[in-house]
Amino acid sequence: MTVSSGLAFAPLRVTPTYNATKAAIHMLSESLRLQLEGSTVRVVELEPPAVRTALMPGHETNEFAMPLDDFVSEVIGLIDAQPGATEIQVESVKFLRYGEARGDYTQVVATLNRLDPHAH
Ligand SMILES: NC(=O)c1ccc[n+]([C@@H]2O[C@H](COP(=O)([O-])OP(=O)(O)OC[C@H]3O[C@@H](n4cnc5c(N)ncnc54)[C@H](OP(=O)(O)O)[C@@H]3O)[C@@H](O)[C@H]2O)c1
Repeated sequence: MTVSSGLAFAPLRVTPTYNATKAAIHMLSESLRLQLEGSTVRVVELEPPAVRTALMPGHETNEFAMPLDDFVSEVIGLIDAQPGATEIQVESVKFLRYGEARGDYTQVVATLNRLDPHAH
């Protein structure tokens, strides 16, 4: 299981290198999955939204971040319900994950950065 981020799919202004490494993890996961096709190894990419952890100062009390227990429960539920999934996406990350596919990428990036408490 690899761990990327919603920020692999929409950039947060204050963390450019982080965004880039997460986009790289997404593509690494896609590529490894192709390479390992036909083997016993499955590649599953976990794409967290903002979750209240010690990742950054103030993140554990960030009102826009998901409580850790809720995130873990939803992830475990998804893994149980979708044993063949290639990407594990809790509902709230889909806003970031599918902006480009939905056609609202520009608004997604604007909203993400407007809500970011680190940017102000
Ligand atoms: N929280 C979010 O909002 C969020 C959103 C999207 C993606 N993610 C991703 O989720 C993953 C876990 O982050 P988290 O939110 O759970 O943050 P966290 O609570 O800060 O946990 C980070 C973990 O990484 C370990 N670590 C840090 N630097 C390391 C190093 N150089 N070598 C080995 N281990 C190291 C830390 O170990 P120690 O405890 O020993 O320091 C800690 O266990 C990360 O890949 C993060 O990018 C998090």
